[in-house]
Amino acid sequence: MSASIVQPRQMHIGAGAIDQLVPVLQGMGLKRPFIVTDAFMVSTGNVARLTDPLTRAGMAFDVFSDTVPDPTSGSIDQGVQALQAHKPDCVVALGGGSPLDSAKAIAFLAQYGGQMRDYKVPVINDVPGLPVVAIPTTAGTGSEATRFTIITDEATDEKMLCTGVAFCPAIALVDYELTLTKPRRLTADTGIDSLTHAIEAYVSAKRNPYSDGLAQLAMTALARHLRTVCNEPDNRPAREAVMLAANQAGLAFSNASVCLVHGMSRPIGAFFHVPHGLSNAMLLPAVTAYSIDAASERYADCARFMGIATHTDTDATANRKLIDELHQLNADLDVPTPKGYGIDKDRYFELLPTMAEQALASGSPGNNPRVPTIDEMVALYTEIWE
Ligand SMILES: [Fe+2]
Repeated sequence: MSASIVQPRQMHIGAGAIDQLVPVLQGMGLKRPFIVTDAFMVSTGNVARLTDPLTRAGMAFDVFSDTVPDPTSGSIDQGVQALQAHKPDCVVALGGGSPLDSAKAIAFLAQYGGQMRDYKVPVINDVPGLPVVAIPTTAGTGSEATRFTIITDEATDEKMLCTGVAFCPAIALVDYELTLTKPRRLTADTGIDSLTHAIEAYVSAKRNPYSDGLAQLAMTALARHLRTVCNEPDNRPAREAVMLAANQAGLAFSNASVCLVHGMSRPIGAFFHVPHGLSNAMLLPAVTAYSIDAASERYADCARFMGIATHTDTDATANRKLIDELHQLNADLDVPTPKGYGIDKDRYFELLPTMAEQALASGSPGNNPRVPTIDEMVALYTEIWE
């Protein structure tokens, strides 16, 4: 069976890629951008790195900086209104996963109307909205290269997965220098998110040779450099390697899928406002241990790509080393349990059936090597509590 591969039309990768914005827009005949970002990006001067050259180039732009973490459908509606007032010919997204996901949703909804919940899985949205130029400032979500956006439905607190070619940016400017100032916690959380993308893409039921290659590259680089970028934030070669790996991991899962970790992670984020990468990290060792016997060869490959097992190790040994490494990585990067994070215990346990049902409805657990029941997901949520 053939694999359907979707990726941005152009990617500029490396130091100074952000400075390619004006030439890239000119090359595509675009001249009226709508910038979607957040207040932090304005305060750090990163938005000025876009608006100054746009002004010099005589392009009429507008800036929407009211995106929120874990973007809600209400925040998307606000962005759509602002966009419609400007009448742009493209959207430029600057920031971490939340501004990028917001921009993709805004560019789509502005064209097609309705509410984001009309477009969540199992709906496939392949007809593009306005072209998006995505400029990530974290090495994590890979959203600049994926065909997904995640928007929270405020009515139900559900993190809705929306998918299709429509949500893949036309252009990605991947500039690792934008990550040099990121704090340790954010660097760790977003990096573990990337590692989770790569591992889940590699074991997914939807994997293919294209996604396998990208996942392998990402796992090798992240295993080598993730601790370094957390401990030495100014280490430019390590930052560059992790930024590229985040992009490759994004392409890998966008063209395969994520699995059970992401399926179960989204409800933790939606109900308790745990950053996405951190809730993945809380789940990754336990969910990998739960899944590993159903795909022991694939997980053994992961351990070998990560340099923690050798080709002379048996698959069983490599699997054990992988689980040990995922626990050790969480310890080294100070990943808390849900309890340690300060989540309210009564509310957590009361919500477990709802969280498991939302996880299942996202479709991601269905791609896992071992497909869980609701009860098994409740047991996994219980296992990771402390
Ligand atoms: Fe993720």
